Amino acid sequence: MPDTRPRRTFAVISHPDAGKSTLTEALALHARVITEAGAVHGKGDRRATVSDWMAMEKARGISITSAALQFVYRDHVINLVDTPGHSDFSEDTYRVLSAVDSAVMLVDAGKGLEPQTLKLFKVCALRGIPVMTVINKWDRPGLSALELMDLIQEKIRLRPTPLTWPVGEAGDFRGVLDRRTGEFVKYTRTAGGATRAPERRMAPDEVEPADALAWATAVEEHELLELDEADHDQDRFLAGETTPVMFASALQNFGVAQLLDLLLDIAPDPSPTEGVDGSVRKVEDDFSAFVFKVQSGMNNAHRDRLAYARVVSGTFERGMVVTHAGSGRPFATKFAQSVFGRDTAAVESAEPGDIIGFVNAQALRVGDTVYVGDPIEYPPVPSFAPEHFVTASAGDIGRYKQFRRGIEQLDQEGVVQVLRSDLRGDQNPVLAAVGPMQFEVVEDRMTNEFNSPIRFSRLDYQVARRTDAAGAAALAGKRGVEVLERSDGTRLALFVDQWRAQVTARDNPDIMLEALPAGGS
Ligand code: G4P
Repeated sequence: MPDTRPRRTFAVISHPDAGKSTLTEALALHARVITEAGAVHGKGDRRATVSDWMAMEKARGISITSAALQFVYRDHVINLVDTPGHSDFSEDTYRVLSAVDSAVMLVDAGKGLEPQTLKLFKVCALRGIPVMTVINKWDRPGLSALELMDLIQEKIRLRPTPLTWPVGEAGDFRGVLDRRTGEFVKYTRTAGGATRAPERRMAPDEVEPADALAWATAVEEHELLELDEADHDQDRFLAGETTPVMFASALQNFGVAQLLDLLLDIAPDPSPTEGVDGSVRKVEDDFSAFVFKVQSGMNNAHRDRLAYARVVSGTFERGMVVTHAGSGRPFATKFAQSVFGRDTAAVESAEPGDIIGFVNAQALRVGDTVYVGDPIEYPPVPSFAPEHFVTASAGDIGRYKQFRRGIEQLDQEGVVQVLRSDLRGDQNPVLAAVGPMQFEVVEDRMTNEFNSPIRFSRLDYQVARRTDAAGAAALAGKRGVEVLERSDGTRLALFVDQWRAQVTARDNPDIMLEALPAGGS
């Protein structure tokens, strides 16, 4: 029997430290987690949460890998896709955001809009993903609520339409005014925020004297917002013109239930998706999915390689034989898994919006489509302009085989872009990154996972432009430029600096030199 419950597939995006892991745990706490229990830890171990499995990640306290969490709330299936936090991984973030239907932007009330917040908002706008905003950490002193609304309007050019409004200023969080019903939702603290925070709804005339002043201020500000027409409008929200706003304290589980309700009420369902040839796959059509992330090293003992795919249409059933769009070859799905942080379990079936993991699917690469029935291929996820380049070589010549295998694997996962040329050969591939931290991940994984220490030497290129075969021939031998080929067949002309790139383009108008989308740094 297919599971016909509605789906909500979304990502939480934020600047590091805004409280994404804390919120993720709080959401899971409020809902019934249906996949592998035990992966959500109790309080005191909140850091060891859903997404971080690399030792390096833990040491830095940032999330650089992606996982998905699935749970049920009010008879809806919710898929929360985790996004990497560091700006060096914006390319990865971009891929993850291709797998969701909406995003929750978490803003630290004390810090306002931070650089990564702004960047992520832009990515969502580019991809047409509607964004809901959660102002977090309202239990701590911070900016005023109206000030934060102004910031969103000015810096992001999205009209904030608050659905709840805080009662009590930042640092004195008593509850919220539900702007849809006019009620006061009063919160009660629990020890350490470890359990659901009890809340009481009351009509305005039931507000207790102790809260009267804070309530009066909230009502006044709410009326100001009404005059300003800052009310939710579903069409404008879906069109990316407005962002509904809520106030919360993830740490104390305040506002978390409301966020879940909001997701159910206004976040979009999975929708029809267009293929590269313009044909459209409806959600009820035959099964199709696309790979947005490939990850390995999740399980040291088994050397797992997991390709995460988002189901776009139809019902997936384990054991189904699907077609790999890139090669046209059949692909068996006996080892499909549901993905839940570092824990995985066999998945029997999945519906549009769900995330499934294919174990040791060597054929699957980021951007690939699999389907049954009529052929479909979804557009590739664009890759960013690399700005950092090194040449890599095996630190131990005796382990050259491991070196080759590791580089190939990391290339397929999109951890780093690997560039080659006949001139350079395969011994010293050029690695290209959007942010320098990607090289640290390569070093760590080559050493620990592939048993092949790696050596880098810096390459003095700064700018990459896309070119073609004719461009490669025309640029050969020119000073300050070198053309290399990426494994997806794209030719990149690397220039020592911006100036050289500009002069070359100016003096050779016939040569194709196309800018790539700017990435993280
Ligand atoms: P991230 O995944 O976005 O990077 O953030 P994370 O949840 O790890 O939270 C970063 C810090 O902010 C943590 O504190 C966390 O406890 C705190 N935090 C998250 N939400 C809230 C909130 O609503 N209110 C308050 N007051 N703090 C919040 P830490 O000191 O870095 O870690 P820990 O020792 O508390 O685990």
